[in-house]
Amino acid sequence: MLVMGVETSCDESSVSIVKDGKLVLSNIVLSQIDIHQAYGGVVPEIASREHVKGITRVFDQALKKANVTLDDIDLIAVTEGPGLIGSLLIGINAAKTVALDRQIPIVGVHHIAGHIYANHISNELEFPCLALVVSGGHTELILMKEHMDFRKLGETQDDAVGEAYDKIARVLHLPYPGGPQVDYLASLGMDKYHFPRPLIDSPDYNFSFSGLKSHVINLHHNLMQRAEEFEVADFCRSFQEAVTDILVHKTKKAAKEYQVKQIIVAGGVAANKGLRKKMKEWIQDIPVFFPAMEYCTDNAAMIAVAGYHQYQKNPTSSNMMLNGNSRLNLE
Ligand code: KG4
Ligand code: ZN
Repeated sequence: MLVMGVETSCDESSVSIVKDGKLVLSNIVLSQIDIHQAYGGVVPEIASREHVKGITRVFDQALKKANVTLDDIDLIAVTEGPGLIGSLLIGINAAKTVALDRQIPIVGVHHIAGHIYANHISNELEFPCLALVVSGGHTELILMKEHMDFRKLGETQDDAVGEAYDKIARVLHLPYPGGPQVDYLASLGMDKYHFPRPLIDSPDYNFSFSGLKSHVINLHHNLMQRAEEFEVADFCRSFQEAVTDILVHKTKKAAKEYQVKQIIVAGGVAANKGLRKKMKEWIQDIPVFFPAMEYCTDNAAMIAVAGYHQYQKNPTSSNMMLNGNSRLNLE
């Protein structure tokens, strides 16, 4: 079964062809990072326009690279939400146009289900499974008892972890997106400031990063005002240690409580080297998996894989009337 995945929820236009929910034949990602960098973050109106400019080319390239034609496609899976509504609608309308023209079934996929299923490309999911979702818009612990079954155990009460990374990077005058920059500098610095670890011992599985973010920004501001010398790398390392302590501690606790067979990490921040290392070091009795680097940040292969499982589970989920939903609920 050949699935064509389409993802345009934020600032990447991506189309992918995946065979039998596993084998990625092509995964074309047209990134707009260079354009948004000048503004220090994603500008929604510009993102929509760039999707319009690039999407047809991305469709063509994905088919060409996979060496297939639209006649070979059995299912189209497109990100339905959450995300920027203008961006979502470009991918959805392109996907629906192809589906209608070629009479191909089409399913709408939750963006976070896609991030979770990025793990399934290189590793077979085993249930019950715990997913730590860490991206620019989400920080959640999700329990899965079977394919495409999601129960939210806890989530951030304010900033998503990727968002906190990006904001701190901006204060430190690092280029957008800041996550990878902070991650790199953290590897060169020391945990000199030992920042607070909010909610680390709370009885629930919720997170909070906005207080930590303000703490880091205020300290930076004070040091600058007093003209004191400091190493940006130490700031990055101290922040990263605090964040990863919280994420790993809570994930381990939930994994034990729900006796999961495996832990998977999903979303852009799954690329973080400090998080990868600490997860493996602190959790040794339960297997921990991360997607390959290329499938951590937004891409259409993960949407195709999730769409495949969604359609297998419920073939009636094909829906030509699907529409963008910027606040789509995973559960
Ligand atoms: O999943 P993603 O591509 O988009 C969303 O769905 O949000 O995640 C993007 C986020 C950004 O906040 C980016 O700074 C962060 O993932 N990110 C990282 C790293 N690579 C990407 N954060 C920390 N360390 C990284 N290595
Ligand atoms: Zn994403």
